[in-house]
Amino acid sequence: MFPPFSKVSNSSRASRGAVARLAVIGLLVTFAGFVVKNARVTANPDTPKTPSAYASEIARTYDFKFGANPFAPGNATTTTGTFIAGEMFVAAKRCGACHTDAHAQWRQSAHGNAFREPFYQKNVKDLQSQKGIEFTRHCESCHNPAALFTGALTKNSKVKRPFDDDGVSCISCHSIQSVNGRGIGGYVMGEPALLVKEDGARLLEGVTDQQILNDVPSHRRAMMRPLLSCSSRLSRKSRRIPTTRATKRPAIPVT
Ligand code: HEC
Ligand code: HEC
Ligand code: HEC
Repeated sequence: MFPPFSKVSNSSRASRGAVARLAVIGLLVTFAGFVVKNARVTANPDTPKTPSAYASEIARTYDFKFGANPFAPGNATTTTGTFIAGEMFVAAKRCGACHTDAHAQWRQSAHGNAFREPFYQKNVKDLQSQKGIEFTRHCESCHNPAALFTGALTKNSKVKRPFDDDGVSCISCHSIQSVNGRGIGGYVMGEPALLVKEDGARLLEGVTDQQILNDVPSHRRAMMRPLLSCSSRLSRKSRRIPTTRATKRPAIPVT
């Protein structure tokens, strides 16, 4: 039930649901050699805080406990190899304004609750108090990608975390560009965008709903790529991993 589908789609949902579920698990599993062209990231010249300015600001106080890779010991990384500002992780609510069904399904899903789920909270807090917050980078690479990539997972971080409630959010999954072969959870997060122009320019800040509706091809480019689409997944036997969710837990109230 957790693969999200939009009300704007009318294809056969049941079978696609099963397929998408595999896909989603597939995203957490790596297979080497899959290459997706990464579009270049265009910083908006009007934005005072460019992506690289954000990254260097975070890097000043970040604990690089596990070496130069800021996201270790997790296997996930970003296309730039460095941090992504929190505002770029668009709230799922915004997507939900147009993709009503997808949002309703996702909100109840394991992905939508991956961070706030009480068992997870207990486990990750224990890890944090016993070993240190840096070790939770491994967990959060799957359970709360925005927390990892914003650089929030370091002692006394000042990064604001409005994204926590979204766990594995729409924009987190839909911004994944490729997998990196590093092992389980080894995926590559792109700079999130709402529109990707034909020339590869990635637009996010200030993009209005009307601009999305006026330029659906650019919106599709931003949200979909072969890695996420049916055909490329079906060719891959390695993705046939059983989805087990043995126990049902009570619903977590939406805040
Ligand atoms: C202003 C309305 C609007 C907003 C906001 C919006 N979308 Fe869309 N989205 C659309 C429309 C319209 C389409 C094209 C209709 C279709 O695919 O059937 C679309 C298509 C898509 C597709 C399908 C692309 C494809 O190739 O099939 C995905 C995935 C998607 N949106 C994800 C998102 C995500 C994730 C967000 C939030 C970050 C988002 N959308 C925000 C209107 C919106
Ligand atoms: C590679 C991705 C990945 C990593 C890394 C990861 N998890 Fe998970 N975790 C999952 C998935 C997927 C599930 C859901 C399994 C299911 O429901 O079938 C899950 C479920 C859980 C659950 C159960 C939540 C529930 O709904 O009952 C807990 C607790 C948990 N993980 C804790 C952790 C901790 C602590 C770490 C770090 C030490 C961690 N996880 C690292 C992917 C990951
Ligand atoms: C765990 C990863 C993941 C998350 C989270 C996720 N999606 Fe998707 N989404 C996918 C994949 C993979 C597909 C492709 C499914 C397919 O081709 O069958 C997809 C497909 C879609 C489509 C196209 C559906 C169709 O019927 O063609 C839309 C629209 C969409 N997602 C919107 C959203 C929105 C909105 C959210 C958040 C409320 C969201 N997604 C959350 C992975 C995700």
